[in-house]
Amino acid sequence: MQTEFDMRGKVAMVTGASSGFGMYFAQLMAARGAQVVVAARRVERLEQLVEEITAAGGEAFAVALDVTDSGAVTRAFDVAEKQFGTVTVVSNNAGVADPKLAHKVDEASWDRVMNTNLKGAWRVAMEGGRRMMAVGVPGSIVNTASILGQRASISQSSYGASKAAVIHLTRSLALEWARKNIRVNALCPGYFPTEMNEGYFATPAGSAYIEAMPAQRMGCLEELAAPFLLLASDAGSYVNGIALTVDGAHSLGHM
Ligand SMILES: NC(=O)c1ccc[n+]([C@@H]2O[C@H](COP(=O)([O-])OP(=O)(O)OC[C@H]3O[C@@H](n4cnc5c(N)ncnc54)[C@H](OP(=O)(O)O)[C@@H]3O)[C@@H](O)[C@H]2O)c1
Repeated sequence: MQTEFDMRGKVAMVTGASSGFGMYFAQLMAARGAQVVVAARRVERLEQLVEEITAAGGEAFAVALDVTDSGAVTRAFDVAEKQFGTVTVVSNNAGVADPKLAHKVDEASWDRVMNTNLKGAWRVAMEGGRRMMAVGVPGSIVNTASILGQRASISQSSYGASKAAVIHLTRSLALEWARKNIRVNALCPGYFPTEMNEGYFATPAGSAYIEAMPAQRMGCLEELAAPFLLLASDAGSYVNGIALTVDGAHSLGHM
């Protein structure tokens, strides 16, 4: 894996790096030689992550970023570029959910989910993609979508719609940017334990849900390593515009 998923020479930006998938993806890439810019709103957590990556022999830099703020996105890329050079790998990973029955979703909730998950990913992809094109370097953008963007599920209308749109945006950008040597792919995980869902899966309803999954368990972060690195690294140089499902067959069964 160390050689196949070599990330040396890459400058990576990971949004939503203060916890869960983003923190893990940042560590993964840094361990394989990428210089990693870790971005989120909770900066103290990012600083802790930078310390951990540095202690493990990697290179990382923290930058405050709210993906709902276009100016902050531009500033984060400015800072990243000054620190390490042009960002060539983007992990578009910041995301929020607000699970509610569709008729109980109000406009503020809908807007927050869309503005973070879809428009935030669009803002970051545009900023990263435009900068890669400006200097003519190849790159890879990995958008964290979800199986909930591929299958409908109760109480996930806003989240599912945002992730379905992220998958479609992924395909549109891959189609347009292939000639610029910028690959754009979506990762569609099933359920993995993170802060986003730990409350629900600690309840009896959450346990029953897990029992009903084909694999009867959630994924563990390590099971996202190879799929993520395939999309992020040059190992996947002809993989473009896909939505890679990693869910232990969950989306083939009951949602
Ligand atoms: N866990 C799963 O089972 C699962 C499955 C499929 C897809 N996903 C997706 O995976 C991604 C990561 O989620 P996670 O499971 O790792 O949950 P998490 O631990 O709650 O992480 C979410 C991350 O997004 C960041 N974030 C939220 N709003 C932001 C904003 N406005 N600007 C910048 N960063 C923001 C948070 O950082 P700050 O609060 O510090 O800003 C945090 O680092 C999300 O896109 C989620 O939809 C998760």
